[in-house]
Amino acid sequence: MATKQHLVLIFLVLMFSIPSTRGKSIRKFFNNSEVGLGDVADGLRVVCGLLNLFGSPCYPGSYVDTLRPVAGSKVSAPEDLSSGAFLLNFSVGDTRQNVALIPDTTLDMTFMFCQPCLDCSLETNIPVYNSTHSDTFERYKCEGPTDCLTSRYTSCSSKSCTYSYDDIPAFTSRGFLAKDTFFLTNEPPVSVIFGCGTTNTGFFGNAVGYLGLGRGNLSFPAQLNVSVFSYCLSFDPSRTTFFFGSDAQMRTGSGFSTTLIPNRLDPTLYYVNMTGITVGGKRINIPSTSFLPQTDGTGGLIVDSSSRITLLEESVYLAFKTEIIKQLQLPEANASVHNLDLCFHISPEDNDVKIPSLTIHFDGSEMTTTNYFTEDTDGKIICLMVLPSKKISILGGQMQTDIHMIFDIGNSLLRFEYLNCDNL
Ligand SMILES: *[C@@H]1O[C@H](CO)[C@@H](O)[C@H](O)[C@H]1NC(C)=O
Ligand SMILES: *[C@@H]1O[C@H](CO)[C@@H](O)[C@H](O)[C@H]1NC(C)=O
Ligand SMILES: *[C@@H]1O[C@H](CO)[C@@H](O)[C@H](O)[C@H]1NC(C)=O
Ligand SMILES: *[C@@H]1O[C@H](CO)[C@@H](O)[C@H](O)[C@H]1NC(C)=O
Ligand SMILES: *[C@@H]1O[C@H](CO)[C@@H](O)[C@H](O)[C@H]1NC(C)=O
Ligand SMILES: *[C@@H]1O[C@H](CO)[C@@H](O)[C@H](O)[C@H]1NC(C)=O
Ligand SMILES: *[C@@H]1O[C@H](CO)[C@@H](O)[C@H](O)[C@H]1NC(C)=O
Repeated sequence: MATKQHLVLIFLVLMFSIPSTRGKSIRKFFNNSEVGLGDVADGLRVVCGLLNLFGSPCYPGSYVDTLRPVAGSKVSAPEDLSSGAFLLNFSVGDTRQNVALIPDTTLDMTFMFCQPCLDCSLETNIPVYNSTHSDTFERYKCEGPTDCLTSRYTSCSSKSCTYSYDDIPAFTSRGFLAKDTFFLTNEPPVSVIFGCGTTNTGFFGNAVGYLGLGRGNLSFPAQLNVSVFSYCLSFDPSRTTFFFGSDAQMRTGSGFSTTLIPNRLDPTLYYVNMTGITVGGKRINIPSTSFLPQTDGTGGLIVDSSSRITLLEESVYLAFKTEIIKQLQLPEANASVHNLDLCFHISPEDNDVKIPSLTIHFDGSEMTTTNYFTEDTDGKIICLMVLPSKKISILGGQMQTDIHMIFDIGNSLLRFEYLNCDNL
């Protein structure tokens, strides 16, 4: 089918402006109130979820305690909607109900709040999918567990596929698998299997669920029958773009690639083979094997679309942090105020703080960015948007800004190119 070869979805993306630093120098354009726990909550959702997967507590421990109240109570205030997550709008079912989902490369299935609900409490007044309004809605039936496709969250119970996301601290969602029609921009409608979430708690921001972009066959790309998708994260959320299928391809002649490597503990995550890190031209002295997934499933670097924060394995982080402190030569500020680990005082008159370029070396290529600091609007403090992790490293969204990230699942490659994502 020709249409299948040519799926383009260009949606976007309204949720939050992404306060951050951009380019070689820091621009002062965002608000003090946006730098704080609300700011990192979404990143931490993923962080904690993944760390829990490997049976270890989140790092730093205090984040877990502080995350839940924020998730539950702060999302209603517009000024706190700054987690950096993006929203994709879909219309679902024959009556075309509007649903806003957060695209997430670490989740292996899509799920959404689904009326009638036991618990679908949102802080914001946004539309929730009501299955009784859709004649095309149907439960996804099963005879045995393998019928419920390959998600480690699904099981077959009384001929109905149930699912339960309950080991992710920042949210839980439980319900059953269902099928309905998704209407995509400029494309024929597709029938998609998703989690009909009847019990949901935790952080959803302005969304009613998550779009699973992981590698399993229940994920959204798999259900579209495409082996490649891409996104280009912009500082302007309304210009952030996602592509599925043949339009998820290089726009310039100067792209790079690295292999997506498997991890037997969670085959749905996108791991890349990181081999080193360079700050301001100085290669940090760490054995290249420190970055690889270990036989117990820990370690490695995954690529995440929905968390803004980057995580580095602790020993790597400490060496990185030491180098940043050395190169920036700025007075340190109290980072715990912002629930981050490293902040500096800057002079308000000084409009251009020079951020050293950061290069992440991969097997076969390298990625360079200066998008890894954030600043308060007062222009007095900048903070590192990188945190240490005990178990896994995560390449977060801010560092991927203005890089077109192409997930070539069929060839097990991550391709990327530097672009101004506003113009894609
Ligand atoms: C910063 O946020 C506060 C609280 O939302 C708001 O009152 C103020 O106008 C904002 N300042 C700027 C410069 O946007
Ligand atoms: C996307 O969904 C949000 C939340 O339902 C809504 O406020 C917004 O108007 C929608 N945007 C578009 C372009 O449909
Ligand atoms: C869902 O739709 C049904 C049928 O129109 C309606 O009775 C019910 O109140 C709706 N549920 C919610 C929570 O809006
Ligand atoms: C999902 O993947 C598993 C393992 O790769 C395979 O056995 C199964 O047939 C697939 N299911 C569907 C519906 O594609
Ligand atoms: C994907 O392939 C399956 C099995 O061949 C088919 O049932 C489904 O309609 C296809 N979906 C799309 C969006 O083409
Ligand atoms: C830093 O801020 C935290 C949280 O506001 C506070 O508990 C701590 O005492 C501060 N540390 C210093 C050295 O001021
Ligand atoms: C990772 O990259 C290194 C350096 O190129 C290579 O020696 C190693 O075999 C790669 N590991 C995997 C799992 O691909």
